Amino acid sequence: MQKWIDVGSFRYFRGESMYVWHYRESPRTSRLKYFIFLNYIARRDARGLLRELGEDGAFGCWTFTYPGFPTCSRDLLDSLNELYFLDRHLDVFSRTGLRLIDIGAGYGRLAHRASSALSGLSDYCCVDAVPESTFLCEYYTQFRGVAPPARVVPLPEVPNLPPASFDLAINVHSFSECTLAATEWWMRELARLHVPWLFLVPNEAAGFLSLEADSSRIDYLPAIESAGYRLVAEERVFADDAVRELIEINDRFCLFQLQQ
Ligand SMILES: C[S@@+](CC[C@H](N)C(=O)[O-])C[C@H]1O[C@@H](n2cnc3c(N)ncnc32)[C@H](O)[C@@H]1O
Repeated sequence: MQKWIDVGSFRYFRGESMYVWHYRESPRTSRLKYFIFLNYIARRDARGLLRELGEDGAFGCWTFTYPGFPTCSRDLLDSLNELYFLDRHLDVFSRTGLRLIDIGAGYGRLAHRASSALSGLSDYCCVDAVPESTFLCEYYTQFRGVAPPARVVPLPEVPNLPPASFDLAINVHSFSECTLAATEWWMRELARLHVPWLFLVPNEAAGFLSLEADSSRIDYLPAIESAGYRLVAEERVFADDAVRELIEINDRFCLFQLQQ
């Protein structure tokens, strides 16, 4: 697991941090890229969630405002893109009693957005290996008034979670920060819990690579497959080639299903 990176100040944990980058280039370039990102999401936002969920910039979150559009952020745009992918494959907007476990939930970005957008959500269980994240996530989900359905479980308590408690496991940019041993542990837990679906967003454009203590990287796909999961859907985060090229993000959404 990667060492804790300075999150600046706890007061600004939604700003430039280990969780979500925002300003990696000049403000002008960022502004142009975010406009392309915003347009991409706005064209697909059949449920009007950009406006409904909104972005208030709390806790240092970088926001972008353009005439004729609601204020946006990476937090909001990434979350909507992820939720629409999950809806395309698992109908998450229509389901009732939906129970999710988020591995490496960070400060609770997706816990907050999913809890606001999914009316049928009954449980959003957040787990993180870094105690500061666990603390922030608990604070943030309470601050946003989404706990419940969001809740935070300390990592050592994961083996006590009962089987058949979850419909979907979420892993957004977190296995890419884990050692192979940590991912193997998580995959054994998901198999024990009998979670039927795993949504994974790796850091790399191809393959599935761990991050070892010596900075080497090992393919962790065999760990996923030996736990009984198979890749059943894979999409580029940006389906549009031009958008992908201009924003320079080649991430993928991957959906694995537990084989019976
Ligand atoms: C890049 S952040 C992404 C946070 C969140 N998933 C999001 O997309 O907003 C990666 C997260 O993985 C967590 N993490 C790293 N190793 C982990 C492990 N072994 N088990 C669970 N979480 C871990 C980190 O603490 C961090 O919160």
